[in-house]
Amino acid sequence: MTVTNDEELQGLREIGRIVADTLAAMGKALEPGMTTAELDAIGRALLERAGACSAPESAYGFPGATCISVNEEVAHGIPGSRRIAAGDLVNIDVSAEKGGYFSDTGASFAVPPVARRTERLCRDGRRALWAGLGQVGAGKPLAGIGAAIGRFAQKNGYTLVRNLASHGVGRSLHEEPTELATWHDRSERRTMEAGLVFTVEPFLSLGAEWAEHEGDDRWTLYGEPRAPTVQYEHTVVATRNGPLVLTLPG
Ligand code: CO
Ligand code: CO
Repeated sequence: MTVTNDEELQGLREIGRIVADTLAAMGKALEPGMTTAELDAIGRALLERAGACSAPESAYGFPGATCISVNEEVAHGIPGSRRIAAGDLVNIDVSAEKGGYFSDTGASFAVPPVARRTERLCRDGRRALWAGLGQVGAGKPLAGIGAAIGRFAQKNGYTLVRNLASHGVGRSLHEEPTELATWHDRSERRTMEAGLVFTVEPFLSLGAEWAEHEGDDRWTLYGEPRAPTVQYEHTVVATRNGPLVLTLPG
């Protein structure tokens, strides 16, 4: 959506803070021995208490309130009986709706003790996200986001998953503009109009170039080739003063 008035901005700010606080609390609660279903239940309770509704569940019938993807799973992992272990790389993606406004955020967490390269991957995943956010602003080319993230990845020896794009958000979970590349995309010609709301969510990896389904599970996506991968995601508004990040914890 494109924000045109203060009421819309307040609605977006509220749901942005709710998903950010939920994600932060789930990250804090994460510990070895707990199942991903238990972690999801914490997220569901927090969303409910805030008067918000899980977006993947209500929009797509996803079997969980949040997406929790462990190690070889790159995205859209289904919460269940899997037990989190020390050394795991756990991605939590929280998106929700309140009062007709949607917001989307995600982060990867390494459960200590972790290998140094995993720690570095997490740190650099956040840096890749902020490299992209730094290119957000009214009138700027959308291609600048992917170009900046692509440069960061290349310089630091990482790959980017190239079939999981960022997207417009606000009045629904996924809306126009769709297919926003977080990698270099020479076909991208669109510009950000003032007030445009969308996500930036690069998937930075130690080798994966692609994400794909496996077997009968139509949700979970795995890296191809298999390699540790992180995702960090914010919902942002393009303003004349640059990026206004909506999904920072309150
Ligand atoms: Co998300
Ligand atoms: Co998203």
